[in-house]
Amino acid sequence: MEIIINDDHQVLAKIVVDSIEAMVRQKPDSVLGVATGSTPIPIYEELTRRVEAGLDLSQIRIFGLDEYVSLDENNAQSYAYFIRQHIIEPCKINPANVRLLSGVAEDLKAEAADFEAAIKAAGGVDLQILGVGHNGHIAFNEPTSSLASRTRRVSLTEKTIEANSRFYNSVDEVPRHAISQGIGTILEARHLVMLAYGEEKGYAVKEMIEGPVSAMMPASALQLHPHVSVLIDEGAAKTLQ
Ligand code: F6R
Repeated sequence: MEIIINDDHQVLAKIVVDSIEAMVRQKPDSVLGVATGSTPIPIYEELTRRVEAGLDLSQIRIFGLDEYVSLDENNAQSYAYFIRQHIIEPCKINPANVRLLSGVAEDLKAEAADFEAAIKAAGGVDLQILGVGHNGHIAFNEPTSSLASRTRRVSLTEKTIEANSRFYNSVDEVPRHAISQGIGTILEARHLVMLAYGEEKGYAVKEMIEGPVSAMMPASALQLHPHVSVLIDEGAAKTLQ
């Protein structure tokens, strides 16, 4: 596991985007897995600047990590909306090359199976961007998720619902379920890039890097992967040995 600690989030974003740019120059139709949430936003802003400066992402293929059940792509709280606003439109990505999970599919089991098949057909994810929840979730794999789990419908914990409520008028409006790539699915990406900022992520970061591998700490599964880059700031790194 490669661990990079820097308090400047722009510097960390540039490191990640350098990797993406090098990958795309070598393989223009690279497969990029994208996370939503506040942490990766500087990466998408930096990627947008590179596109404005001439980087061509027209052939890359994008896969999402997760989506709330019941929110469609036009709902501003949906992850599809976020990905369109922060990545697809500003980075001029061909919408035909984008496969996100649908939270409004009639048959979520079929949607999950189709999504897994689409990743396989694309040859797997080359680089997967990840964030971590306070409780150690990755994508929406909450504590107790099987480390071998595949894409499926999941229930969110009260902690996650509470953390997400900052984007809603009231906690009652926050969706209770999501459809999420499994931990087993995520571990099949060739390069995992995990970002975590702030002291409030300190516990999850410590357990992810130093703790035992456990279903109670989904992010600890990253210890099982041969190519992981963890980019954190001093706050998130404070609890590390
Ligand atoms: C989002 C996702 C989540 C977030 C995590 C951290 O697609 O999969 O696991 O990465 O909740 O979110 P932020 O970055 O908002 O702290």
